[in-house]
Amino acid sequence: MNKIISNYSRITTNTLSEMKKASEKIAMLTAYDYTLAKIVDRAGIDVILVGDSASNVMAGHETTVPITLDQMIYHSSSVVRGVERALVVVDLPFGTYQSNSKEALKSSIKIMKESGSHAIKLEGGIEVKSSIERILNAGIPVMGHLGLTPQSIYKFGTYSVRAKKNFEAEKLFNDAKLLQKLGCFAIVLEKIPAKLAKKISDELKIPVIGIGAGVDVDGQVLVLHDMLGMNTEFSPRFLRRYLDLNQEITKAVSEYAKDVKKSSFPNKKEQY
Ligand code: KIV
Repeated sequence: MNKIISNYSRITTNTLSEMKKASEKIAMLTAYDYTLAKIVDRAGIDVILVGDSASNVMAGHETTVPITLDQMIYHSSSVVRGVERALVVVDLPFGTYQSNSKEALKSSIKIMKESGSHAIKLEGGIEVKSSIERILNAGIPVMGHLGLTPQSIYKFGTYSVRAKKNFEAEKLFNDAKLLQKLGCFAIVLEKIPAKLAKKISDELKIPVIGIGAGVDVDGQVLVLHDMLGMNTEFSPRFLRRYLDLNQEITKAVSEYAKDVKKSSFPNKKEQY
């Protein structure tokens, strides 16, 4: 049984480290706008990720590749304005950190300054070592992301479970240790075998947050719109839907449309 021992008023990267030490699980969700971020924050979520999944969820793109730094700044600054307690982590979008470490630092400084986020997240292990080093040297906290890394979708061609083969699992394990050694404050492991995720979480001192990585990690993350059931097309095995908002919203909107058409909205009390 995991403990909930603390009532932190403001979550920092240090808090997450304390939570891991105390075996208190970390609850993380995405958000992309002020209104939902405010609800998510007040509901007690520890970490809000302004994920580049905004590219899919908010903009309707097929992948996370097209979203830009300025668009991520728009989303993350909106989120920051709604948050009082949670740590806000923002994704560096594709193409803003892979080419060289100077560019990675420039992108990180811009997004931190213009959004007010508390940390950045980026995808990859040894391939992005120099970028991570430079960003950390500037005092910007970095969350790593290994396993299924959606920004590389065109390299892999599929969103299937990662690191099933031994050599892939070994690379992932080494990458996770490297990210810790470089100074990342946490890592996300996406869609990998639960046994491997447990091994990494047991090995590392920094928190390991899973999505499709089983229960034996230090916390969980889901995409908000998926767990609220707003998106009916996306049904991976790891997703638990806590609401069927798609149905609820459809019902409310169609009732409103009917009321307008039959002039039952607004009524006398709803007018001036
Ligand atoms: O962009 C995102 O939402 C993410 C999570 C799936 C971890 O990176």
